[in-house]
Amino acid sequence: MTVLLGLPGLRSSRPGADQQRRLADAYGRVAADLRLSLTDRCNLRCTYCMPAEGLDWMDRSELLDDDEIVRLVRIGTERLGITTVRLTGGEPLLRRGLEGLVARLAALEPSPVLALTTNGIGLAGRAEALRAAGLNRINVSLDTLNPDTFAELTRRRRHADVLAGIRAARAAGLDPVKINAVLMRGVNDHEAPDMLRWALDEGVQLRFIEQMPLDAQHGWRRADMVTAAETLARLRTAFSLVVDPAHAAARGSAPAELFRVVGTDRTVGVIASVTQPFCGSCDRVRLTADGQIRTCLFAREESDLRLLLRGGADDATIADAWVTAVAGKQPGHGIDDPSFLQPDRPMSAIGG
Ligand code: 5AD
Ligand code: SF4
Repeated sequence: MTVLLGLPGLRSSRPGADQQRRLADAYGRVAADLRLSLTDRCNLRCTYCMPAEGLDWMDRSELLDDDEIVRLVRIGTERLGITTVRLTGGEPLLRRGLEGLVARLAALEPSPVLALTTNGIGLAGRAEALRAAGLNRINVSLDTLNPDTFAELTRRRRHADVLAGIRAARAAGLDPVKINAVLMRGVNDHEAPDMLRWALDEGVQLRFIEQMPLDAQHGWRRADMVTAAETLARLRTAFSLVVDPAHAAARGSAPAELFRVVGTDRTVGVIASVTQPFCGSCDRVRLTADGQIRTCLFAREESDLRLLLRGGADDATIADAWVTAVAGKQPGHGIDDPSFLQPDRPMSAIGG
């Protein structure tokens, strides 16, 4: 370990109790869950996310480097009560040296719970190393069981890679492996029961997420969205589902409402981000790959931590800026307000 001493991101002295702050906002919420986007690039082109030709990717020089990321996360865990760090993208597996970054984040004290949200491509060869580096949890996105529908939805023929990635995650001992699915009317919404059957067989936890207005093309229409209620109705044509009482009591800030699949010991989740927003208990804060704090996926403002980092600011100054950013968090996303405006950045440049 001594060889690492003095590298940025490793502390020489822990901040004292007087430097401990919380990321509190004006509505009584406290952010403890950091969503960290590692790149805006992706190797898929999901229609609800990106146009076929992709987007204008950020320049490498704009992205935070590993030292900058480790330093910010260290400030978050040491001073600001961050307890969980979820690595997102774009596609975070495209970030070079991800395993090394995970290991450095896992070595922080206090050490955050480390989670990864990935599309699963390339995961087959990396799940084991990520687990060994200290990854605690994984979410893999998969919207269909049909390779042709997958190709239509993501514009890439990579369905088999994703399935292999999911199996590798299980085999590496990541548990639970959560699968995120977005249903689109007339494309894959009829698959909901089949997907649940598959998830039960695979031993993974399936969660359906309502599609949100985050696509770069601004093509989202509320009326086209498959609601959580519709998804549940479809699932109930094939399964008996009951609200999981243990989970309902302990749900806290978890966005998924979990249902127990009767006759099994497993659950299925629905995330009704649009029809039943959970903003009132949100404990998240986001950091984009270029070092901007966003208090919500739908925030209209960002706070530039990269400017502070690269300008030589000390830890206390950066912590102050972070606290100030979260203090200004809006009460909700307002998707249903007449004045709602989609954020300028698409989901892939914010982090899911
Ligand atoms: N609405 C809901 N979920 C989305 N995702 C990407 N774009 C959207 C959207 N517009 C999901 C992906 C992935 C996670 C990062 O977010 O399917 O599971
Ligand atoms: Fe890539 Fe995720 Fe966007 Fe699909 S939804 S294009 S996997 S970033």
